[in-house]
Amino acid sequence: MTFTLRSAGEKIEVVDKPAELFTTPPNLGNYEAACREFSWEQARREIDWFDEDHLNAAYNAVDRHAVGWRKNKVALYWEGERGEVEKYTFRELSRLSNQLANALADIGIKKGDRVFIFLPRLPELYIAFLAILKLGAVAGTLFAAFGPEALKDRLGDSDARAVVTIPGYYERIESVRGDLPALKDVILVDTRGTDFRPKAGEHLYSKMMAEADHHFAPAVMAAEDYAFMLYTSGTTGKSKGVVHAHEAIIQEHLSAKWILDLKDDDIYWCTADPGWVTGIAYGILGTWSNGATSVIYEGRFNPREWYRIVEKYDVSVWYTAPTAIRMLMKAGPKAAADFDLSCLRHLASVGEPLNPEAIRWGLDVFGLPFHDTWWQTETGSILIANYPSIPVKLGSMGRPFPGVTASIVDDDGNEMPPGTPGHLAIKPGWPAMFRTVWHNEAKYEEYFNNDWYITGDRAYMDSEGYFWFIGRGDDVIKTAGERVGPFEVESALVDHAAVAEAGVIGKPDMMRGEIIKAFVVLATDQESSPELSEEIRVFVKKRLAGHAYPREIEFVDVLPKTQSGKIMRRVLKARELGLPVGDLSTLEAT
Ligand code: WTA
Repeated sequence: MTFTLRSAGEKIEVVDKPAELFTTPPNLGNYEAACREFSWEQARREIDWFDEDHLNAAYNAVDRHAVGWRKNKVALYWEGERGEVEKYTFRELSRLSNQLANALADIGIKKGDRVFIFLPRLPELYIAFLAILKLGAVAGTLFAAFGPEALKDRLGDSDARAVVTIPGYYERIESVRGDLPALKDVILVDTRGTDFRPKAGEHLYSKMMAEADHHFAPAVMAAEDYAFMLYTSGTTGKSKGVVHAHEAIIQEHLSAKWILDLKDDDIYWCTADPGWVTGIAYGILGTWSNGATSVIYEGRFNPREWYRIVEKYDVSVWYTAPTAIRMLMKAGPKAAADFDLSCLRHLASVGEPLNPEAIRWGLDVFGLPFHDTWWQTETGSILIANYPSIPVKLGSMGRPFPGVTASIVDDDGNEMPPGTPGHLAIKPGWPAMFRTVWHNEAKYEEYFNNDWYITGDRAYMDSEGYFWFIGRGDDVIKTAGERVGPFEVESALVDHAAVAEAGVIGKPDMMRGEIIKAFVVLATDQESSPELSEEIRVFVKKRLAGHAYPREIEFVDVLPKTQSGKIMRRVLKARELGLPVGDLSTLEAT
């Protein structure tokens, strides 16, 4: 397969993808026609309903394939950190999640209860997610890197009733358990050996499973009923619980089909962790709903290991992120040349801007372009994308999903003509749209302006309807694809005894997109030193999360603040970048 790269005017290059290059026709053959003829009513028919308005997302992801011709098809190839290998068919996944759903019901977990998963990428993570949805409870996922403070915030805000974890991670929850009165049950996954002795309210997974029946009738959920929630960062305040409904599966299914182009003979690898929305929508729900065989690799990023996984499992469709691609680029062409990667046929990327160099590199090394996709935790599904059947403009996020209206609006929510930079906005009403911010309807309302959902990103649309990312419109940081709120990092910093005040920004970084940089004012009796800087970094890493600590700390005497005392991060950022600081009329005299 050879795709051609041509120049299309100043600074724009296009990958042309003539139809004859596709060995199998793309699932979405004609984007324009799909947009014209699209109806959500028809999209609803792609999935199974119990009746007109009731469904279960987990039933659609797994159970419906466990009875038909896909029942013995491998749903999950798992490779553990130490090279262990396991595989599960759709029927096995369906039965195991049924068993766990029964076991959770036995300990009293009910429809609507929040049950969080704090696990490494083990098969049990996926089984637990499915089980929670089948039971009608609301599943929450947590990054393995989270420290006690981050866990307390999330489990506390959601009033989580139960957590599924491993003994090795449980310590971090135990240390804050006194602050979590709603947390009644802890399920400890012990399938890979442990001699943990449970106390009251603690349950061993293997024992629960051994006693549980593998028949379970999935809860009949209204389309609007909550299925899962994720804590994500905004510009102000602590992270917030973004809640998704069961009917999000309609769009997760269709976008996986049309954008990831999944076919029955594909082996699919989504490198994202389910702590992130990508690992749920395209690592569990939308992709299994298409009957895709998925690879889950527990290990951390390492170029040669990644190539080995692609080769070993014959991965044909690969969904990853720009930081990972840049790290593969850095590892050099030799690392890739040592493996047979000819199994790959379709590549996609998400989470941060995908540089044109990364696409050119993909063409060189894999003979394939990466297809950028844009979306957010809140949108629940890819909303803007490059499709297999339309040309890729290097550097553009692509075009809206059929049935989705995207636009660029000004500060008042008025649409602006092509070529004008502004707020990227989406017309509300797509099925995968988040339904609320947990216990914070006011925060939810803040997202909307003049009947548009305002994404927080700045972008423009060109005359052919392609969207181009400019940057965040707020202080949210994207580091290696992870979304980090500056307030959460600042809060963790000021908890350190030596820190009086802190301001946190995202500093541009070639590899990670951005890194977290903190400006710290020390308490009066403290002296700055490299040792103190390191101590503060470790302190934040332990309390908050392995990925949300400041890689750079600069000690300063004073922070720019508004007269009302708010730290002006945009001034810190402008100074860092050597840019004009803009209007300082609200700056406190210092
Ligand atoms: C950024 C990720 C540029 C953007 C699924 C968005 C992107 C935020 C892209 C959401 C892209 C995501 N190009 N930027 N293709 N995709 N972003 O909630 O700033 O972790 O608002 O969800 O990531 O991050 P989140």
